[in-house]
Amino acid sequence: MKTLIIYYSESGSTEIISKVLAYNLNADIVMIQDLKPRDGFKNRLTASFDAFRENKTEIYPPTLNLENYDLIYIGTPVWASKPSPAISTIIDSCDLRRKDVILFTTMTSSGGAATIEKLEKKVKARGGRVVETFTIKTKDKDMNRLMRDAESIIDILDLKIYK
Ligand SMILES: Cc1cc2nc3c(=O)[nH]c(=O)nc-3n(C[C@H](O)[C@H](O)[C@H](O)COP(=O)(O)O)c2cc1C
Repeated sequence: MKTLIIYYSESGSTEIISKVLAYNLNADIVMIQDLKPRDGFKNRLTASFDAFRENKTEIYPPTLNLENYDLIYIGTPVWASKPSPAISTIIDSCDLRRKDVILFTTMTSSGGAATIEKLEKKVKARGGRVVETFTIKTKDKDMNRLMRDAESIIDILDLKIYK
């Protein structure tokens, strides 16, 4: 089974987790870039607003050819209890028919379940089948701790069975 990990990460936590998943699950990996600036206080306010309103954004790459993949992981930070605009935008441009999908979020405290619910609806609307979901809390965790958390999730959810 060929696996692709698609992620967006603004401050690096979702990226670390995605890389650990890719390494351990022998998956390809692609980062989605949000072409709107998201750093700094003012941009973060706009980011929350955009996520809350479920606004689309400009992304790179603008779409992905998933033809060669059977299993797709999609990872996003939680923003205002919603998926990041970059991840919402890429999902809406992808053909997920006949794809198994695993959704994951990172967050500091809350909103993971609501975000997963939103993503699940979007994936289903594109024809995908969600087979697993998980959320990792990132507050006060350094890189090593995040890596360990990602490795634990692989074991706890037995993610290697999808390989
Ligand atoms: C604009 C913005 C909105 C956020 N909203 C939430 C939220 O609603 N709930 C939460 O627990 N964390 C929230 N966070 C924190 C991030 O979800 C968390 O730090 C995440 O792990 C960051 O992932 P990243 O490093 O991959 O960008 C928010 C962060 C930003 C920048």
